[in-house]
Amino acid sequence: MTTLEIRDLHVDVAQSDSDAEPIHILKGVDLTVSSDETHAIMGPNGSGKSTLSYAIAGHPKYEVTSGSITLDGEDVLEMSVDERARAGLFLAMQYPVEVPGVSMSNFLRTAATAVRGEAPKLRHWVKETKEAMTALEIDPSFGERSVNEGFSGGEKKRHEILQLDLLKPKIAILDETDSGLDVDALRVVSEGVNRYKANEHGGILLITHYTRILRYIKPDFVHVFVNGRVVESGGPELADELEDNGYVRFTSAAAAS
Ligand SMILES: Nc1ncnc2c1ncn2[C@@H]1O[C@H](COP(=O)(O)OP(=O)(O)OP(=O)(O)O)[C@@H](O)[C@H]1O
Ligand SMILES: [Mg+2]
Repeated sequence: MTTLEIRDLHVDVAQSDSDAEPIHILKGVDLTVSSDETHAIMGPNGSGKSTLSYAIAGHPKYEVTSGSITLDGEDVLEMSVDERARAGLFLAMQYPVEVPGVSMSNFLRTAATAVRGEAPKLRHWVKETKEAMTALEIDPSFGERSVNEGFSGGEKKRHEILQLDLLKPKIAILDETDSGLDVDALRVVSEGVNRYKANEHGGILLITHYTRILRYIKPDFVHVFVNGRVVESGGPELADELEDNGYVRFTSAAAAS
């Protein structure tokens, strides 16, 4: 069993104008995600959800000014980005980056080698990737294409889940993996996430705006994220309340405090 523990996390982001003061975005995030648990985070645009995922993954632009992130008691903030990946953390980004000149199959094998600590045996690897691509309804020709280059929005999201399937992290952060997916793709991607959960028993932190995906991927906990922190946590019924009423109850409370 693995536990990711975030305590009173404060994060600043540097502005592009290096003379300008950094902006304080995360203002005391508390969150604990363990194996076999699915957590959904919902919150208004600009509240800091992606910033939280970048801070966990170790994006250099996001500076942790106080608080802690630990994985089974190990200090994640002391780890480099690739050490975090080897420790079992995975981030599917809201906006996956294009890597021209690096083929998808090369990228996946390199990533799997780095995370597993040894190169996967070629025959086994070919079979493994083929099965994963078939399950996610990804055409084999994508293996030869540059990572995410010219991929449609939905294709990029499928490839994030292909990585999830092959890298088998302990804790997976999925930042708006459902955005831009058509109904069939949403089902395929959700099934991929559920397969990961069933096989690997990983912990999932799912950032989303829509309850639609939560019909496929059932959350155990729902957290409302407003103005840089978790302001309320509950069960799946909280997502339904948000769908019906929006964030007014939470944003007005945050403004008053
Ligand atoms: N590099 C940056 N420079 C300036 N501002 C930034 C930077 N990164 C994030 N921000 C600001 O921090 C705030 C939080 O952004 P973040 O992307 O974390 O929000 P979010 O909750 O993921 O929103 P969305 O639901 O729209 O994805 C926003 O106001 C954003 O403009
Ligand atoms: Mg975001």
